[in-house]
Amino acid sequence: MIKTVMQTASAHAIEQAASWILRDEVVGLPTETVYGLAANACSAASVARIFEAKGRPQDNPLIVHIAKLEDLEKVAQNIPEDAYRLAEAFWPGPLTLILERAENIVPAVSGGLSSVGVRIPAHEAARKVIDACKVPLAAPSANCSGRPSPTTAAHVWDDLAGKIPFILDGGPSVMGVESTVLNLQKEAVVLRPGFITAEEIESVLGRPVRYAASVTKPLEEGKVPKSPGTKYTHYAPLAKLTLVEGSFAFFLEQARQVQAADAWALCFEGEEHHLPLPALSYGRFNDAKSQSAGLFAALRLLDEKGAKAALVRCETESEEHLAVYNRLLRAAAFRVVRP
Ligand code: TXA
Ligand code: MG
Repeated sequence: MIKTVMQTASAHAIEQAASWILRDEVVGLPTETVYGLAANACSAASVARIFEAKGRPQDNPLIVHIAKLEDLEKVAQNIPEDAYRLAEAFWPGPLTLILERAENIVPAVSGGLSSVGVRIPAHEAARKVIDACKVPLAAPSANCSGRPSPTTAAHVWDDLAGKIPFILDGGPSVMGVESTVLNLQKEAVVLRPGFITAEEIESVLGRPVRYAASVTKPLEEGKVPKSPGTKYTHYAPLAKLTLVEGSFAFFLEQARQVQAADAWALCFEGEEHHLPLPALSYGRFNDAKSQSAGLFAALRLLDEKGAKAALVRCETESEEHLAVYNRLLRAAAFRVVRP
């Protein structure tokens, strides 16, 4: 056990976060998507600490964070023109580009792949820490491997206190789901959906952008995933989740049939009181932004309430719901009931 300090992101706290990182330690860092667990991407010892603290499988690559576009060449090489066009449109922001890894970045960051994921975060405190360190920061989400991603400093504390020396508190993550991951090495393929949609990327690139099959489907037996992170059960609370697609009336029908003890419903705001189960909401109906902002905190709250099982309302109609639906499918290990 080591002592963990958590501090609001003042200038002094930002300096402290940077000084831990420059001593090869890992720190909890706020971003606009989820909190990250940050370390020097050019130091093998630092990067090893990330995997150790999270209990993360070594073949699951990390995203590298930079503060300004000039630094992209420290992280990637043979960078295509399209990367700069997307950077101009979406950075700082929740878009991760998969490019060819530069020599500087230790191979363990990419789980041994020759590629690297990179983005400029929109959260100012995150960029200030990177600036203060003057090195690119590798940072996966700051949860224990398999748990829901952290969207507050308190979530990071719950998972990692005693394992890391410092957590920088920059307030709740405004977006609440992780960045869109785009493979730009050959075809443009979204490996993980996020706030920025394929349609928006397409309109910048002027060529087709598709979603990888793994976005909404489990990996087939024996196949090697393009994005190794997609093969593990993810984002999962202790409760056994089942997604229910379709209308609220259909959800109500399903909820009435639940026999299990300690079963809960995860629904949209205002629906709680109509249900025959204890219920929590994670956002407003027909409002993908509010759902992403509330999702991970609601999954963690289910655990705190002692839920053993939960039925989950979800929307699947449009592209903007894909980020939340993708996380829910993994949290529910692809258990879905459809009308
Ligand atoms: O919003 C985010 O992206 C957050 C914040 C902290 O920036 N980070 C994050 O990191 O979600 P992580 O490690 O939890 O997820 C990284 C995802 C994984 O699905 C991983 O497989 C994929 O990005 N990824 C990273 N590098 C890759 C690469 N070289 N090739 C393919 N997929 C990669
Ligand atoms: Mg993660």
